[in-house]
Amino acid sequence: MVKQFDVAVIGAGAAGMMCAAVAGQRGKKVVLIDHATKLAEKIRISGGGRCNFTNVTAGPQNFLSQNPHFCKSALSRYTPQDFISLMKRYRIGYHEKHKGQLFCDDSAEQIIAMLKAECDLGNVSWRMPCSVAAIGKSGDLFRVDSSAGEILASNVVIATGGLSIPKIGATDFAYRIARQFDLRLIEPRPALVPLTFDHAGWQPFLPLAGIALPVEVQTGEKKTRGEFREDLLFTHRGLSGPAILQISSFWKTGTPLVLNLLPEIDVAETLINGKTSIKKNLGNLFAQWMPARLAHGLIEANKLDPMARVADTPDRLLRNLGDAVNRWAIVPNGSEGYRKAEVTLGGIDTKELSQQSMVSNKVPGMHFIGEAVDVTGWLGGYNFQWAWASATAAGLSL
Ligand code: FDA
Repeated sequence: MVKQFDVAVIGAGAAGMMCAAVAGQRGKKVVLIDHATKLAEKIRISGGGRCNFTNVTAGPQNFLSQNPHFCKSALSRYTPQDFISLMKRYRIGYHEKHKGQLFCDDSAEQIIAMLKAECDLGNVSWRMPCSVAAIGKSGDLFRVDSSAGEILASNVVIATGGLSIPKIGATDFAYRIARQFDLRLIEPRPALVPLTFDHAGWQPFLPLAGIALPVEVQTGEKKTRGEFREDLLFTHRGLSGPAILQISSFWKTGTPLVLNLLPEIDVAETLINGKTSIKKNLGNLFAQWMPARLAHGLIEANKLDPMARVADTPDRLLRNLGDAVNRWAIVPNGSEGYRKAEVTLGGIDTKELSQQSMVSNKVPGMHFIGEAVDVTGWLGGYNFQWAWASATAAGLSL
C-alpha cells in the first residue's frame, strides 16, 4: 500500500534525525529512511566514541565552501548553545577538551539515543534498513521508490552525507539525486584526511613513524590560505595528526605544505647567536626541543653530524638547518582517500539552495542538509554543528 507523508527524510544520520525530529515536533507527518542496519554509525564512532558534538567557538570562519556566506544564516539561528541546551535537557554530561571542542563524558551512544527520543516526540515513522532505488515526481508529490514500498511525500530532505568511510554506509546518493534533478555539484574530495608522500621519497622518514609534536602548518595563498597550530604525527605512509587533517581541507594537489616544527624557536638565529655560549653538540641541543629520534633524523637529513658542536658548524649550514626546521616545505602526492577521511569537501552547490530553508531553488520541496551540501567544517566539532544547524533550518521551514 502506498503511504503518504508531509516529509520523507532520506538518511538517518546526524542531520537526518535532527531534521525529522524538528519537523515532526511541528506536527508534520515525517518518515525517516536509512539503508544501514545500525543507526547513526558516524555519530557512534566520532570523537573516539565520545562524539565531539559541537565547538563553542563555531562560526562561519570555521567552514569551507565556494560560498562562505551561505552557512551564516543557519549557524546563527541554531548555535552551539542550542545543542548544549538539548544535551542538558537529556542530562547528558559533557566536557571541553581542546580549543572549544565539546565531548560527551560517557558515550556518543547517548546522543544517538537523544536524537531517537526527539524523533519519537515528533511521531516520526521509521523505514530502516530500507534502500531507496529512485526518487521521482508525481504532480506536486515526490515518489520515493524504496525497498519498503512506494512512499509519497510533499517534501523530501536528502541527508545522506558525503563519501567518507564507505564501509559504514556512505554513498553518493545525494550527488546522484542532484545530477538527476540537474543541480550543480562542487566536485567532492576527501578532507580532514592524512596526507601521503611518494614511497621512495618517504623512506628516510620511515623510522620517525609514531612521533608526534606540536607544529605550525600552512598552505595556499591569500584567500585560500590555511594555517593551523596543532599536533603533527609521522606515519609509515606520510603525515597525520590534527595539524595535517586540518590543513588537508585547504591543500591542493601539487602544492607544498610549509611546516614549522619548532614554532616557539627561531632555530637559525638561536644557533648562530649562541655559537659561543652553546656547549652542547647539535644532537643533544635539538633533543631538548623535540623527540630525540626526530632531532637526529633532521640533522642527518641536512648532512650534518649530530655529534658536531654548534660552535664548529659554519653559519651557512646552521641557517640551512634552521630553514629545514622552521620552514620545511614538502609536497604530498595525495591523501589516504575516503577510506580514512572524516568528511567530504564539496557537494551540492549552495547557489542551488536557499540559505533559510536548504530547499532547492529549482526543485520546490527538495531539501539538502548536512555533509551532502558544499559546507565543510574544520576538525573540532564544527561538522556536527553544521549538521544540527542546517537540519534545524530545513526542519523549521517544513
Ligand atoms: P551522516 O554520514 O552522519 O549520515 C548519513 C546517513 O545517510 C547515514 O546514516 C547513512 O547510512 C545514510 N545513507 C547514505 N546513503 C544512503 C542511501 N543511498 N540510502 C539510504 N540511506 C543512506 N564531526 C564532528 O563534528 N565531530 C566529530 O567528533 C567527528 N568525528 C568523526 C569521526 C569519523 C571517523 C568520521 C568519519 C567523521 C567524523 N565527523 C565528526 C564528521 C561527522 O560525522 C559528519 O560530518 C556528520 O556525521 C555528517 O552528518 P550527516 O547527517 O550529513 O551525514
